Amino acid sequence: MTTSASTTISQQSAQLPALGPRLQGIFDVIALGSSQSPYDHLWDCCCDHGYLGFQLLASDIGGQVHFVDQLPHLISDIADRFSQDEALRQFSHDDYQLHAIDAGSVHFGSNLKHLAVFAGIGGELTIQMLMRLAAQHTQQPIDYVFCPSTTQFDLREYLHDSGFVLLQESLVTEKGRQYEIIWARSPVADTIGPRVSLTGDLWQADNPDHQRYLNKLITHYRNRLKRDPTGRAQYILRQYQACSATVP
Ligand SMILES: C[S@@+](CC[C@H](N)C(=O)[O-])C[C@H]1O[C@@H](n2cnc3c(N)ncnc32)[C@H](O)[C@@H]1O
Repeated sequence: MTTSASTTISQQSAQLPALGPRLQGIFDVIALGSSQSPYDHLWDCCCDHGYLGFQLLASDIGGQVHFVDQLPHLISDIADRFSQDEALRQFSHDDYQLHAIDAGSVHFGSNLKHLAVFAGIGGELTIQMLMRLAAQHTQQPIDYVFCPSTTQFDLREYLHDSGFVLLQESLVTEKGRQYEIIWARSPVADTIGPRVSLTGDLWQADNPDHQRYLNKLITHYRNRLKRDPTGRAQYILRQYQACSATVP
């Protein structure tokens, strides 16, 4: 599935820093999902500076926004912004919560609709956190938006093998670099839909950014072949080469 998210939900604050294309792409997916069926809670799980969460709050997307980061000083900076910035002072703790915790230890409340964002961290680190979250939330589907900075294949493989359902995927370019955005739902007994694929089904033959990114992945795994005796680099390389072969 290849779709670029579009939404009628507006971003309202001109006083907050504008999002770059990568965070904007994530915002758009959340807005699209919320317009279809609103989320009760939106978790920005490695929020760093909090820009995404600020824009979610300032929009009319709805849902309580959770800022989660393992570094207490970052969460403290966000708290300062809520007390000092004119654009943010209007919000109360009914609108947002701050959590200086490891994102793998988040507890999603039951019987509510949750969406969690994992962006700007590697796929392997994301997997470690997802495994811990999965062990805590076996009965309840959680929606996720992933935008890994590295090891995208490893994350996709974990999602595929675990039975995550793909809701949407896209590729965005920021400062000449491409980023995959994957919106997916964690599996529970009755979850139905297409699984997240190993490489993404998003390759557009006429899109130079897509071709550039695919070539970059192929080059990366060709280089890894030279120092990988396990055969894994070869396996991943073949998957990406197959995508390349389907593109005329
Ligand atoms: C590069 S920033 C990404 C910020 C933002 N999500 C983005 O995409 O621009 C990575 C952030 O992840 C946080 N982080 C890394 N591991 C974490 C963990 N296990 N739990 C919570 N936060 C974590 C770091 O402290 C850092 O603020």
